[in-house]
Amino acid sequence: MYNMGEPRIKIVAMPKDTNPSGNIFGGWIMSQIDIAGSLAARDLNVQRVVTVAVNSMEFREAVKVGDVLSCYGRILKVGKTSITAQVEVNAERSYDGTRRCLHVTSAVVTYVNVDEDGVKRLIPHTQNELLALGIEQKL
Ligand SMILES: CC(C)(COP(=O)(O)OP(=O)(O)OC[C@H]1O[C@@H](n2cnc3c(N)ncnc32)[C@H](O)[C@@H]1OP(=O)(O)O)[C@@H](O)C(=O)NCCC(=O)NCCS
Repeated sequence: MYNMGEPRIKIVAMPKDTNPSGNIFGGWIMSQIDIAGSLAARDLNVQRVVTVAVNSMEFREAVKVGDVLSCYGRILKVGKTSITAQVEVNAERSYDGTRRCLHVTSAVVTYVNVDEDGVKRLIPHTQNELLALGIEQKL
């Protein structure tokens, strides 16, 4: 995983978040991804975003109770009203005195900037703002 900065979310997986087989429920992980991606979108100083699409994602490792989940997020692309974010999720697991870091999943999530009535609105941004956030996109 290349540099994603600090985690947007760091949270311990709890027994209440398990599925019937005892692993952590995928829907709980997806909600953390959604929040982490929306926090990344806020780097552009948007007030309110809604999730329009989860473009791709794939679970590679199961998450267990007690794992420390870290969700990293960064903006990949900015459109007229949408922001697409990449989210990477790791789980840190302690077992028998050793600690392992597992790459759980990656996701690409798209958000739309909306007003109080849920109507889409333009995202004001400049090339310099994009560059400052490390977004390689020509306007
Ligand atoms: C999101 C919403 C405001 C979009 O409204 P709309 O008028 O249909 O908007 P558009 O179809 O023009 O799409 C708006 C932007 O989203 C992008 N978009 C729409 N569907 C997309 C998809 N499936 N994948 C990626 N981007 C998508 C469009 O390309 C457009 O981007 P741009 O303005 O940067 O070019 C509206 O569909 C909505 O309210 N959806 C419900 C959102 C919600 O409740 N989410 C769950 C809880 S937060």
